[in-house]
Amino acid sequence: MKSAPVIAIDGPSASGKGTVASRVAARLGFHYLESGALYRLVALAGGDRPEQTAAGLDVEFRDQKVFLNKQDVTDSLRSEAIGVRASEIAGLAAVRAALLGRQRAFRQRPGLVADGRDMGTVVFPDAALKVFLTASAAARAQRRYKQLIDKGNHANLAALSRDLEERDQRDAAREVAPLKPAADAASVDSSDLTVDEVVDRVLKMYRERM
Ligand code: CDP
Repeated sequence: MKSAPVIAIDGPSASGKGTVASRVAARLGFHYLESGALYRLVALAGGDRPEQTAAGLDVEFRDQKVFLNKQDVTDSLRSEAIGVRASEIAGLAAVRAALLGRQRAFRQRPGLVADGRDMGTVVFPDAALKVFLTASAAARAQRRYKQLIDKGNHANLAALSRDLEERDQRDAAREVAPLKPAADAASVDSSDLTVDEVVDRVLKMYRERM
């Protein structure tokens, strides 16, 4: 039997991947994997040996919420400090290897939309559609700022811009699964597009390929 189709949406922090990917999944009735949440969960769970933490992670995604050791951690997962720590941990090959099977298990019928850094390059190299979603540094800092403020978190635009830049550099420069478009990915710059426009574009590309 042919495996379920995958739409891979990769890109830097705050490029809008998560919002776009979850809406595309909803429109198609597909499953959704937010792979960054797994790295954030390893960061949140802590411990001296992140690869062990990654291998033994007790996590459940249910009703748009995330549970770690049966506790609802949906909000704490989103903090900027956890994002920074997640990006550090994500540089460890053993952590990435420990999370690979868990990510591939999300591939189920009728299909999967997965967002992250290496969905198209490493985790689902045979994805039916690969999108590399970018946006200018200013647009991304502004979006992340709004996202944090809307959720009642503290945020400082200048500090956020610095964080994003550092994180981009670390994600792009690391040796294992660096942030880069797959050779066969379609690049979409979302700086001047609404979420709906990006979602429509992705759906159109997917239909053209199927
Ligand atoms: O929301 P944001 O794009 O800032 O981050 P995220 O998608 O939640 O991912 C947090 C961190 O995990 C990123 O900075 C990456 O370093 C790492 N990550 C990764 O290495 N590979 C993935 N497939 C997803 C996330």
